[in-house]
Amino acid sequence: MLADTIALVTGANKGLGLATARQLAERGLTVLLGSRDADRGAQAAATLATDGIKVRPVRIDVTDDASVRQAAELIEREHGRLDVLVNNAGVLRRKAPTEVTADDLRPEFETNVFGVVRVVHAMLPLLRRSKAARIVNVSSDSAVFAKATEDGSMFARSHDSFAYSATKAAVNMLTVKYANAFADDPELAHIKVNAVTPGYVATDLNGFKGARSTDEGARAAVYWATVGDDGGTGGFYDESGRMPW
Ligand SMILES: NC(=O)c1ccc[n+]([C@@H]2O[C@H](COP(=O)([O-])OP(=O)(O)OC[C@H]3O[C@@H](n4cnc5c(N)ncnc54)[C@H](OP(=O)(O)O)[C@@H]3O)[C@@H](O)[C@H]2O)c1
Repeated sequence: MLADTIALVTGANKGLGLATARQLAERGLTVLLGSRDADRGAQAAATLATDGIKVRPVRIDVTDDASVRQAAELIEREHGRLDVLVNNAGVLRRKAPTEVTADDLRPEFETNVFGVVRVVHAMLPLLRRSKAARIVNVSSDSAVFAKATEDGSMFARSHDSFAYSATKAAVNMLTVKYANAFADDPELAHIKVNAVTPGYVATDLNGFKGARSTDEGARAAVYWATVGDDGGTGGFYDESGRMPW
């Protein structure tokens, strides 16, 4: 994949999104660095520029219809299509299940789930025009039922990720449903959709407690963002391979 491959990474002003944007640009893709705050996006692009990596900051708040529409219009104007979409923007708000109200769930679902659908829906006309489009949804180990139900596992004990884990499980199902629908439509069959988990990565999201670096965590997203036509669709992967659901 070369400079004529246009990639958008949401939530790329820091953390895993920034590392993903960096690695995609290092591979020669034209990278649109999504940030909900224009200044933070410009700052992140400037940081990459000091390492000789050129990306284009694009303002996109995945919870805001107008912002997402404007980002799609900008990409349409400047590139006419989109080849790679990494739905990376995400939030985690810790609260025990016994305390969580229905309203508490809304911000995480708005960003992590509705945000994915909002962006995919807005970008679909642009992805349609790609020869080989890739969508990568950034999910989480905490969405894995096999882990959450395993006696004594840290995922069975992390009660305060109640809402977050539910959002990422929803993202996994959206991934499968998009992948199946696209695969069955001759006009969309060129769009592969996969979910990835970065592992436990040191970022703002977890107070930098994660054991892995953002460069390590970004690898699965970068792999599936640039996978060839022989790569699968509708799967869930970490850096080492297929994840259980
Ligand atoms: N870190 C981990 O161990 C881990 C594990 C599994 C999955 N993940 C997933 O990896 C992704 C990236 O997280 P991270 O760990 O890199 O966290 P992070 O450093 O907190 O980065 C999150 C990014 O999402 C952006 N964002 C939040 N709300 C947004 C919105 N409404 N519109 C656009 N952007 C928005 C943030 O922008 P602001 O700077 O403006 O807030 C930031 O750029 C998330 O989907 C997360 O769930 C992380």
